[in-house]
Amino acid sequence: MLKSLLLFITLFISVAYSRSVTFKILAFGTKVQLEIIGYKKYNLKQAVAGDPLYSGKINSLPDTDFEYTYYVDGVKENFNRVCKSGVTTTLNEFFGREETLKPLETFNYPDNHWNRSIGKTTVFDDSYIPTVHFYGTETEKFFHNPTSTTTKLERVTFYFKDSKKSFSKVPVTAKNKDFDKFQIKMKLSKTANVKGRYLLKFRNGSEDPTNLRQTIYGNIIDSLGMPSIHSIMVRVYYNGKPAGFYTMQEEAISESFIRTEFYGNPETETIDPPEPIGDTFDCSTGADFEYKPLNMSYYDPIALKIGKDKSKLIAFTQALDQLNTSNEAELEEFEKKWFDIETFHKAMAMEYLTGDWDGYWYFTSNFAFYEDPKQSTDSTYKFYFITQDHDETFGVGLTDVTNTVGYEFPKVSYTTMLNQIWHKDPFDAEHRTLVDKFIASTPALQKRFQDTLISIVQNIFNPVAFKRVVNSYYERYLPEVEWDYSFQRPYKYKRGQNPNWGYDDFLKAFDSPLTGLQWGLYEWVSLRAEAIKNEFCITWEGDENPPDESCVPYEIPEPTTTTTTTTTTTTTTVEVPTTTIELEPTNVPTTKSIPTQRHRFAEWFKNKKPSDFTVKTKRSKRSTLHPPEKSRF
Ligand SMILES: *[C@@H]1O[C@H](CO)[C@@H](O)[C@H](O)[C@H]1NC(C)=O
Ligand SMILES: *[C@@H]1O[C@H](CO)[C@@H](O)[C@H](O)[C@H]1NC(C)=O
Ligand SMILES: *[C@@H]1O[C@H](CO)[C@@H](O)[C@H](O)[C@H]1NC(C)=O
Ligand SMILES: *[C@@H]1O[C@H](CO)[C@@H](O)[C@H](O)[C@H]1NC(C)=O
Repeated sequence: MLKSLLLFITLFISVAYSRSVTFKILAFGTKVQLEIIGYKKYNLKQAVAGDPLYSGKINSLPDTDFEYTYYVDGVKENFNRVCKSGVTTTLNEFFGREETLKPLETFNYPDNHWNRSIGKTTVFDDSYIPTVHFYGTETEKFFHNPTSTTTKLERVTFYFKDSKKSFSKVPVTAKNKDFDKFQIKMKLSKTANVKGRYLLKFRNGSEDPTNLRQTIYGNIIDSLGMPSIHSIMVRVYYNGKPAGFYTMQEEAISESFIRTEFYGNPETETIDPPEPIGDTFDCSTGADFEYKPLNMSYYDPIALKIGKDKSKLIAFTQALDQLNTSNEAELEEFEKKWFDIETFHKAMAMEYLTGDWDGYWYFTSNFAFYEDPKQSTDSTYKFYFITQDHDETFGVGLTDVTNTVGYEFPKVSYTTMLNQIWHKDPFDAEHRTLVDKFIASTPALQKRFQDTLISIVQNIFNPVAFKRVVNSYYERYLPEVEWDYSFQRPYKYKRGQNPNWGYDDFLKAFDSPLTGLQWGLYEWVSLRAEAIKNEFCITWEGDENPPDESCVPYEIPEPTTTTTTTTTTTTTTVEVPTTTIELEPTNVPTTKSIPTQRHRFAEWFKNKKPSDFTVKTKRSKRSTLHPPEKSRF
């Protein structure tokens, strides 16, 4: 009896304390310790000198669940962590962040057919908040004195949930230096990449008080099923010091993006791109698609980034010009051979829904146009529309140029945006050829677009579904944003940045308007969705106020004469035999310089007086916006 009891005890001990666990913690300090609660404290070692990952393998730990915590320079985390039985290594934990992994709520859309992306991979897996650490003397200089010319930084390390990856001599450039939290663009290479991606930007939505618009927009379009740049919120540090909470994202006109978004396999996380990839165009204000082969400067805003010349683009505009969208067979063939209408419709629905004034529909700006060689032939070239740059959305930056109706703007119907002459400023194009052709030219196409629009509202862009997801971002990122505003940034823009949002603005911006921004984020979505509800007599899950029987849905007008169906964009029909056109755009001087639109808001904002922001139309809850602080002006 005693013997067997002793045997039992020895067995128990040897089984119960036989586990080795590797602990990994990202921490910023000089002394990092681990405490196994009720047991012992251990010093952890820096994995690489100068970098913030500390680790240690501890033997003879209990096989059952046990508790532990970390200390940095003697200060303990204010919670205990649990090491579950069976775990032999932790994820890359972050000092003071209780939940290392926390899946965010997701947007769901039933008609997602985009199966060509490599997917999020660990790089854009937002159940984790990655840390990016820059290291070295050049790094120190760059963060204090950001340069637009390329600088090579000594070392950059990415910490993902269960892996890390370091790169040396990393080329970076800085942009938006009129904000303390300037933008960083990083060029790794085809061979030195993170899960196939090698062009990454670190951005701060300078004019967006939530700093989440790019991430929200990116996640919505990803769930809709269209080629979309991925974004994730990350912490950026340099030489052990804080730089900011940034949106890390791809660039649509980069080879890195095209290769992984068009030729990826999410199951194997591998890619199979053509070499070289197809023609890639960077489109800025004025970019439209009329057929003007004799005036190459018309195509200046469509800048060739990858490829030889613009001949395939011109061929596209010619095919577009000749397309009779009333002929179903012809349209179907065009869709197969020349242009992806489904993803274009989704992109336009999103531009309209978010008031994306710096995009194609409102301003012929900010998109990429890509020709996919795998779907092209010797004489037909399949193009895709790719939207990018999504910080000026949900009401941000909507100036008088785009918005002539003030607070009512989210109530404006998309039907007022068809077959218009635009030319909102000297650089803006006159038409929206793609919109007029693929949405407005026939009732069938308009219905198809409208059905997409309605479906997005019913599934995603309504106050219930939107808030469910975005609130999970708010909760997850609140401590990160608090951190982001808690330290002095290494760089200070001398003349004072404008606007200069703070932590309080972040807290308010979801529900309430701010000076210079007439709508809270949720308020924007509600107004837009409600207007669409009344226009088409639709509702959504959880809608507390569905339309009643008196609701009369908008009806797509039937064309009165046959001619109106085909001639929405009237380019001059001078017969130009294609064979005689010399398509050598490189010989044509393209001198037009396209200004960036992003200063427009700052300029406009700067010159506003507080009285300009009092609301002129009746709003339900508030009578005025909160008074602006003096320092803002
Ligand atoms: C991807 O979608 C296309 C078109 O929807 C389909 O033809 C193809 O088989 C799909 N590929 C895979 C791997 O599922
Ligand atoms: C962007 O960065 C600046 C600091 O440079 C900050 O004032 C502004 O509030 C930031 N925006 C957000 C939303 O973080
Ligand atoms: C060519 O296009 C540019 C840009 O659209 C325009 O300003 C110019 O007037 C055009 N030239 C001719 C000869 O049509
Ligand atoms: C366009 O196609 C429709 C339907 O096939 C046809 O009735 C119409 O005549 C065509 N228009 C032109 C200009 O060819």
